Amino acid sequence: MKRIALLAGDGIGPEIMAEATKVLRALDLDLQLEEAPVGGAAYDLHGHPLPPATLALAQAADAVLFGAVGDWKYDQLERALRPEQAILGLRKHLGLFANLRPAICYEQLTAASSLKPELVAGLDILIIRELTGDIYFGQPRGRRTATDGHFPGAEEAFDTMRYSRPEIERIAHVAFTAARGRQRRVTSVDKANVLETFQLWKDVVTEVGAQYPDVTLDHMYVDNAAMQLVKEPKRFDVVVTGTMFGDILSDEASMLTGSIGMLPSASLDANNKGLYEPSHGSAPDIAGKGLANPLATILSVAMMLRHSLGMPDAAKRVEDAVQTVLAQGWRTADIALPGETAVSTSAMGDAVLAALR
Ligand code: IPM
Ligand code: MG
Repeated sequence: MKRIALLAGDGIGPEIMAEATKVLRALDLDLQLEEAPVGGAAYDLHGHPLPPATLALAQAADAVLFGAVGDWKYDQLERALRPEQAILGLRKHLGLFANLRPAICYEQLTAASSLKPELVAGLDILIIRELTGDIYFGQPRGRRTATDGHFPGAEEAFDTMRYSRPEIERIAHVAFTAARGRQRRVTSVDKANVLETFQLWKDVVTEVGAQYPDVTLDHMYVDNAAMQLVKEPKRFDVVVTGTMFGDILSDEASMLTGSIGMLPSASLDANNKGLYEPSHGSAPDIAGKGLANPLATILSVAMMLRHSLGMPDAAKRVEDAVQTVLAQGWRTADIALPGETAVSTSAMGDAVLAALR
């Protein structure tokens, strides 16, 4: 039996998690599902966004299914207690350095993309984002005021960007290995024209690339990559980059596909233990209204079954069920075109259940 930690979190987290859990139960696998609070919800209950019991559960589990964290109501808290620290802490404590963010344009949703259909039809990009280094985890970080202290009214603030050779090597290997199962093209995104950190990145990725002569490697500056993603997105196969550029480019790429509400993600450690979450955030503005699209979380379940649980057949069943509901015309508000009727979060979950059976 495999243990799954369910961390729903804030905003739309509980709604999308409820649908994903329905799907997981319907698969009738030998799984033990255990819930724990995380993010702002955990702060409200226990005074910390990642309480020790939640971290312990995540560490003990075979995989973590994560909803979303964050709400404006926590903006005034000191940084260490904000909801976002929960996901950053989980990534760091669990050693989840490899973030896989596929951007796939489903045939039925081509018209929902903000780009012309011919630019996105058949789009299938895999963004591989390094997740535990870069400016997110640099040292030191802080704010200085004229009088010192970490308070509003600071005169100066700083965050340091850093990567080490082994950190770059291991994510590069993930990218080249993934490319072998796809079109064998890797684009490494950097800012080596300005930043030392990304000159090292570029050098190390080039070295690792030499071990994969069957994979084509090219390098692109991040500003150009942002432009190429909307100009000619199908030129990309696997994109590998750091934490911050990957954060930005994966949001951008998601829109090409019609909606960020469709995109799952996996964050893996060196042994394929992973945390699975939708690529979108907690969307507090629509929380509790049944408007959220649960498909990104349901597709994250599929990624979990495939990458961490060794259940590729079950993964395929879930992915096929999602294809079926799209073909049947089920749409939540984010993917409905003008004139199409949008269904609720739970109606979409029910449609997936029906398609599974
Ligand atoms: C993401 C999110 C997170 C990140 C936040 C919530 C810390 O934007 O997963 O893309 O920046 O990594
Ligand atoms: Mg982000």
